[in-house]
Amino acid sequence: GDPASGGQVFAANCNACHMGGKNVIMSNKTLSKADLAKYLKGFSEDAQTAIAYQVTNGKNAMPAFKGRLSPKQIEDVSAYVASKAEKGW
Ligand code: HEM
Repeated sequence: GDPASGGQVFAANCNACHMGGKNVIMSNKTLSKADLAKYLKGFSEDAQTAIAYQVTNGKNAMPAFKGRLSPKQIEDVSAYVASKAEKGW
């Protein structure tokens, strides 16, 4: 995925709940590397695939983006989140 284009997808679709890598609904489940490693299944084995799975299917209060974002947009936004988590947002 292309993290630069993913940044635009993030701004348009994720910022409402995850601005700056935070989580306004469940404040413990941020997009920091430590929280992703702790809460997101498969993150430590394959970060981008694990993020893309949750974006595609949603979880609890997080909506599913399947059908709202294209597969390429989901790949790109997942690459962006993985890169920002690596850098500490
Ligand atoms: C969790 C990404 C949009 C609400 C997460 C997690 C990721 C993620 C990777 C796992 C975090 C963790 O477990 O530490 C994204 C991306 C989005 C997006 C890339 C845009 C494409 C949204 C939106 C909302 C939202 C718009 C609110 C309406 C949540 C909630 C959780 C969560 C509530 C915790 C789910 C749970 O474990 O119960 N998000 N998100 N997300 N997100 Fe999003």
